[in-house]
Amino acid sequence: MTYIFGNWKMYLTLEESLSLAQSLADMSVPDGVQACVFPSMIAMHSVQESLAGSGCGVGVQHVAWTPRGAYTGEISAFIAKEAGSAYALVGHSERRHIFGETNDDVRKKLEACMESGLAAVLCIGETHEDKAQDKRTYRLKKQLMKALHGLSQDAPLLIAYEPVWAISGSGGGEACLPADVQDIHGWIRTEVAQYTDKDIPILYGGSVNQGNAASYIACDDVSGLLVGSASTHADSFAKIVAST
Ligand code: 13P
Repeated sequence: MTYIFGNWKMYLTLEESLSLAQSLADMSVPDGVQACVFPSMIAMHSVQESLAGSGCGVGVQHVAWTPRGAYTGEISAFIAKEAGSAYALVGHSERRHIFGETNDDVRKKLEACMESGLAAVLCIGETHEDKAQDKRTYRLKKQLMKALHGLSQDAPLLIAYEPVWAISGSGGGEACLPADVQDIHGWIRTEVAQYTDKDIPILYGGSVNQGNAASYIACDDVSGLLVGSASTHADSFAKIVAST
């Protein structure tokens, strides 16, 4: 299975989200490809209704770690799943670096997803400083260990490797070369095998577009892509899905 996921971040209004969803409803999704978009919380349910019966699923960009209660402003994994989400991003670098989510928060959110039966996409990635100081694998090792050690996997788990320096908008937007992606994905696969005997898909994200998508997909240890800004245009997302 190849996963092509589109994180719409906070790029689109409700109206823009619905119009994009309508364009994607007819997108052709090749056999063996799982497409999914991650709209804003405001748009998620309507986008899900609009894409029902299409080849494209819907997920949420983050979740709270507790199922329900007095938690102003939060939406839980349990509620997201009930509203039609198939996946949740957990620990996206923008949540970690802009909104201060810690490895402990990420762990609690992963546990909430597992308890609610919501498939989780654990996002990991090093910063430019980590890389410059030769701390790339140190950072990733720590993020993986805190997230996965002893985690009971009652729902599907995926990993998205998104180097912060390669993300457009919030990061450096510097392209990560496919050979570099392959090396680090191979390393992540070995690292993850310490915590689970399941075959965990590892997606790549960071400035993916219709021009470079195929070069990442061609890497042995890349199971899919997590696309940001290029997923907010029907044309480019459909071309990325078709390039698999
Ligand atoms: P870009 O594709 O815009 O660089 O974003 C990547 C990302 O953060 C997806 O979650």
